[in-house]
Amino acid sequence: MDEKQIKDALQAVLHPKLKKSLIDIGMIRNISIKGGAVTLSLALKSDRSPLKKVLIGEIEKVLGALPEVSSVQVEVITLSREEFEHLFPKAPLKGIEKVKHFLAVASGKGGVGKTTIAVNVALALAKQGYKVGLLDADVYGPSVPVMLGISEALAQEDNMIVPKEKYGLQIVSLGMTAGQNEAFIWRGPLVSKMIHQLLGQVKWGELDYLVIDLPPGTGDPSIAIAQALPRCSILMITTPQEVALADVRRAIGLFHKTGQTIVGLVENMSYFLSNQSTQPIEIFGHGGGKRLSQETDIPLLGAIPLAIEIRQGGDNGVPLMVSAPDSATAAIFQTIAKKILDKTG
Ligand SMILES: Nc1ncnc2c1ncn2[C@@H]1O[C@H](COP(=O)(O)OP(=O)(O)OP(=O)(O)O)[C@@H](O)[C@H]1O
Ligand SMILES: [Mg+2]
Repeated sequence: MDEKQIKDALQAVLHPKLKKSLIDIGMIRNISIKGGAVTLSLALKSDRSPLKKVLIGEIEKVLGALPEVSSVQVEVITLSREEFEHLFPKAPLKGIEKVKHFLAVASGKGGVGKTTIAVNVALALAKQGYKVGLLDADVYGPSVPVMLGISEALAQEDNMIVPKEKYGLQIVSLGMTAGQNEAFIWRGPLVSKMIHQLLGQVKWGELDYLVIDLPPGTGDPSIAIAQALPRCSILMITTPQEVALADVRRAIGLFHKTGQTIVGLVENMSYFLSNQSTQPIEIFGHGGGKRLSQETDIPLLGAIPLAIEIRQGGDNGVPLMVSAPDSATAAIFQTIAKKILDKTG
């Protein structure tokens, strides 16, 4: 008796929902035959799966019917999350059905300029003629409304939230759902529910890119987004100094674990150009982004200077891409956007 005979016999055992043979979809593994004793693994979502009893019963029945088989032993193992999602892909959330690409902007720690870059990269993509949405998913401190000078709350239509249009972007922020000064602190399952709402119950409509400003680090909200959007590219923001890099390395590791693609790194507050000197002053050190890129094989898409216009743009609601679209810094944002288009388009 050989493995082929066992596999042939097992072709008859189908997954009740998928109507495909367990052998063909890889749910039966590690077949071993010793004399007449057959052992194999059955991979299920969990050991408590309601299918467990039925499927083991069927496996025992078809193999038991082979004259050479004296005993059958089935061990249940669990499918990895990726395997499970591959076998049972989730229906896309209603609000984002027509969104072609998701780009989440992430960082290892707070205050490195994630929102600033999310906003200006979104504007740079829009300038190149793409339809772009911006979702402020920073549950701890939504700052997109201030950076884009939006004070109105979001409107609703047919039970769906309607994004606010400004500077050519479709914008939704948690800071636009209630009083602007209210502190939003969401935890655990609430976060995941709320993220699903922001993705699923917003009329995003047809978009080429939905740029998502994640909260700093890799806590619940980032994981919830990763789970809701398995095909989301990550843009990692860092500053040149070593401390920020250690956090960013940890975050990269976690995103890799959840199977997300990191399209590139952006080094922010890279250097300062003063009026007195033509030499860039590297306030936070030199070359951190480049070293990180070499070490991780993630391309460095650009380095943004520390510039007073960027800070002012953030405070007065008119981002640099709008107030100074022809500046040298705006050109850097355009280059970053082009590289993102090349890698994701
Ligand atoms: N390149 C820059 N030059 C000057 N100021 C900058 C630059 N990048 C960001 N800033 C300023 O630094 C502050 C923090 O930036 P930002 O809010 O974008 O960071 P963040 O990573 O989103 O922070 P948080 O973790 O709180 O969400 C803001 O006041 C912003 O205007
Ligand atoms: Mg922010």
